[in-house]
Amino acid sequence: MWGGRFAEGPAAVMREINASIPFDKRLWRQDVAGSKAHVAMLGATGIVAADDAAAIAAGLDQVAAYYEANGVAEDMVLEDIHMQTEARLADAIGPVAGRLHTARSRNDQVATDFRLWVRDAIDQVLGALGALREALLTRAEEHAASVMPGFTHLQSAQPVTLGHHLMAYVEMTMRDISRFADARVRMNRCPLGSAALAGTGFPVDRDATASALGFDGPTRNSLDAVSDRDFAMDYLMAAAQCSLHLSRLAEEFVLWASQPFGFVSLSDQWSTGSSIMPQKRNPDAAELVRGHSGRITGCLVALMVTMKGLPLAYSKDMQDDKPPVFEAHDLLGLSIAAMTGMIESATFRTDRMRQVAEAGFSTATDLADWLVREANLPFREAHHVTGRAVKLAEGRGVALDALSLDDLRAIDDRIDARVYGVLSVDASVASRTSFGGTAPANVRAAIAAARETT
Ligand code: ARG
Repeated sequence: MWGGRFAEGPAAVMREINASIPFDKRLWRQDVAGSKAHVAMLGATGIVAADDAAAIAAGLDQVAAYYEANGVAEDMVLEDIHMQTEARLADAIGPVAGRLHTARSRNDQVATDFRLWVRDAIDQVLGALGALREALLTRAEEHAASVMPGFTHLQSAQPVTLGHHLMAYVEMTMRDISRFADARVRMNRCPLGSAALAGTGFPVDRDATASALGFDGPTRNSLDAVSDRDFAMDYLMAAAQCSLHLSRLAEEFVLWASQPFGFVSLSDQWSTGSSIMPQKRNPDAAELVRGHSGRITGCLVALMVTMKGLPLAYSKDMQDDKPPVFEAHDLLGLSIAAMTGMIESATFRTDRMRQVAEAGFSTATDLADWLVREANLPFREAHHVTGRAVKLAEGRGVALDALSLDDLRAIDDRIDARVYGVLSVDASVASRTSFGGTAPANVRAAIAAARETT
């Protein structure tokens, strides 16, 4: 492509370190689409004669058909997907192919291709997250009133409902969806026409190429357009955050599927066995979702560190922008799909959850609140009285509501029989009616509200 200036070819290792074709061949659809938009504009503006532009457009279709059928060869001599496509085009239509690169550089070309790719990636993730959200909502609805222990410090704290717990992940998923959607809005500007860095003297129609490729308009500064990769980092930041949420959910499944918890059984489809221990049912998929979040976050860090300190405009370091984005996207796609499948098919052991919720004195706060409300004790004093009741129940190995009224009145004679109305786990969750609370009625309302937002 630049042989005119050089007497010797590159060293073998130079070729190898320089080549991006092993990974950027993944951009071939975007590369052909970008070139088609560019050549249509070159023809329409008369920068290239209309019949040449038509021949190039038809040739690009042939190249696309060739790639579709045969894949993209990893030819190091042809360095990257842009050179590969141009060489294939020349094979197909001859020297007129050389007019395609008028008023264009690989710098605005790759910035455009990669934006198109990331935009498609966001659309795929949004679809997958929609399915995850739906799976969570369905199971939350089923378990709007199923009592489970809520934890702080992984110690039984207060009873909540499984529906409420799952809805917490719906909230996280909805914020993830909005992060990806935001990234999409910000990145949707077309670099084509920025050329190498300074713009071009040819009378290009940047609005035409932008709108042909579904962008909201052209980028405003040619230096910025060819050299920033914040759109890719926006994607990776959203991906890393999303993967962290998935990792926490995965961790809950790992814990819940363990024998000491026994809160969930994963379906056969989402379990693995052990080659030595016949009794095992391992939650490998959940563990890998948890693990993948580390790799996805690593991809974000890789690109941030690559970009840090690069002077304007393009530097070849930026070729390394693609592998971390591709890797993160593949890992995230698998993670979302695996979590969705596990949620859809899991059997929640609600009897066991209830048993654990009842065992942990998890309604102690309800007793304290009752003393404040009905006996007018200051909360600190109510806390102390309740602590004595818990101590007594613990010594006898019984639940709070198994203490007799005489026992309770011996601790504080302001307690009366109405207290039993708040000591059960069902009464406890039903009472948590503050907005955003765990009462089954609130959970159902939250589900309905979530279903109304898209
Ligand atoms: N393969 C290159 C990349 O991905 C394309 C841009 C090359 N531009 C250049 N001036 N060498 O960044």
